[in-house]
Amino acid sequence: MAGNRQFFVSLLLLMLVPAAAQARDVPLNSLGTSAGKAQRRADGTLLLRPGATVRTDFAIRDGHGVSAQVERRDRCSTNLQVTARLGDQAASSPIGRTTRTAFWGLTAPAGTTRVSLTLTQPRDRAKNARTKKRRVRAKTRGARTKARGKPNARGKAKGRGKAKAARRPVRSRGPRRKRPRRKVAAARPCQASVLLKGLTVLERLPVNAAMTAAHFGQDPFYQALFPQHFDGLTPENELKWESTEPQQGQFTFEAGDRVVNWAIANGEYVRGHVLVWDFQNSDYVTNPKDFYLLQHHWKRAELIAVMQEHILNVVAHFRGRIPEWDVVNEAFNDDGSYKNNVWYQVIGPEYIALAFRLAHQADPQAKLFYNDLGYEAGGPHTQAVLNMVRSLREQGVPIDGVGLESHFDISAGPVTDRMRPVMQAFADLGMAEEITELDVNAGPGTDKLAAEAELYRQVARACLEQIACQRITTWGYTDRYSWLGSDRQGLPFDVNYQPKPAWQALQSEARPGI
Ligand code: XIL
Repeated sequence: MAGNRQFFVSLLLLMLVPAAAQARDVPLNSLGTSAGKAQRRADGTLLLRPGATVRTDFAIRDGHGVSAQVERRDRCSTNLQVTARLGDQAASSPIGRTTRTAFWGLTAPAGTTRVSLTLTQPRDRAKNARTKKRRVRAKTRGARTKARGKPNARGKAKGRGKAKAARRPVRSRGPRRKRPRRKVAAARPCQASVLLKGLTVLERLPVNAAMTAAHFGQDPFYQALFPQHFDGLTPENELKWESTEPQQGQFTFEAGDRVVNWAIANGEYVRGHVLVWDFQNSDYVTNPKDFYLLQHHWKRAELIAVMQEHILNVVAHFRGRIPEWDVVNEAFNDDGSYKNNVWYQVIGPEYIALAFRLAHQADPQAKLFYNDLGYEAGGPHTQAVLNMVRSLREQGVPIDGVGLESHFDISAGPVTDRMRPVMQAFADLGMAEEITELDVNAGPGTDKLAAEAELYRQVARACLEQIACQRITTWGYTDRYSWLGSDRQGLPFDVNYQPKPAWQALQSEARPGI
């Protein structure tokens, strides 16, 4: 009972968790200014006068808002408003004397987008209305005064005062005395201005997790809690070779369809994992297990045909539902040499290019990734993947991105600094990047949770800093079902679905602000 209450309280609290967003600063010195109206100051800020527009083309993830740090620099009574534009959306807000931050809820898809601010001086409607009223009143008063003074055609006065006017004899007031006009010093027109001190685009960084059909329908919380926390999922095992083609030429998609359709029905994004790997293959692919025998078991052309049939069928089956695939998984050893798996043995290193071409043939819209672990933080393994990606690009192979699995050990230490140059190097090759299988092998004991959270924060930071990094996926979400084992405490939620410090860390990095 108490457990139930606790569960519902945490459910309620977690529903309040805001959408994932990250603030990306637009450098003020990158802003182009409209001549004359905007003035760049020595401290890097920009002074805007009405009519000024500042703009830049800026690479963003999924844009979710623009915010500006501003300050009114005048004491004019004029209304000022700033119109912000993000891509093809625009919105305005007034800049009052006390406004420090202005926020506009604008959205734009990932990519290079136009960001601009325009300062305008809208016509003050209230003031205009007051002036108009005053004028109308003055006019009516004038008309009445005239009316009181003049009898109408039948000798009667018009209007309210007609009785009195009729009784009162019309008296001449003599020449009207002119009131001396108050002398007003010719005021200089008030110069309105706003100081732009900062400009930020709020972005969403999707946080996903792996899910498996193995617990669907068995555990009331597993599916119920997931959609409130995560933006998407990767089927943990259901799309692997042994699941999708257990016998040669016989495809089974029940489990895969179950996870994928459930995800889509809940508005979740799906990553496809994985087409070609050395693990979780069907026996007919990897038997006999002995590599020496294996390379004689398959003729090269035969194994290529097997790979072709598999990729074309699996990718085509999910076309339109799975927008991105891990095409090849874990092809290298940590020393940078190719893994001596069945594909390498029989086909040679070209199996990688071939797999990408086949996946592209099956779904030209799908984004295609190479996925690996142990190369996130530099070393010969990283170099090998970089060389491979470069070579694939040179050959015109359709590869869109790399997945950094990020299965870290608690002893990994601060990793942001080591991941940063690696992520930059792949971005420089034009690759999209994702953290695809994040978990931290922490081991038992509550004293490990703070260090685990710090590692989560470090990995999230590395992704956030690199614009090419577009998603973080954790490998499962509850320690209850982690592939590492529950006692390793690798995931952001504990065995009772309670958020751990690792989840708070992920939230505060990937989901600050809105
Ligand atoms: C793991 C799954 O989580 C386990 O359930 C399964 O028994 C073995 O595979 N790298 C990958 C993932 O690319 O597919 C692996 O998933 C973990 C390591």
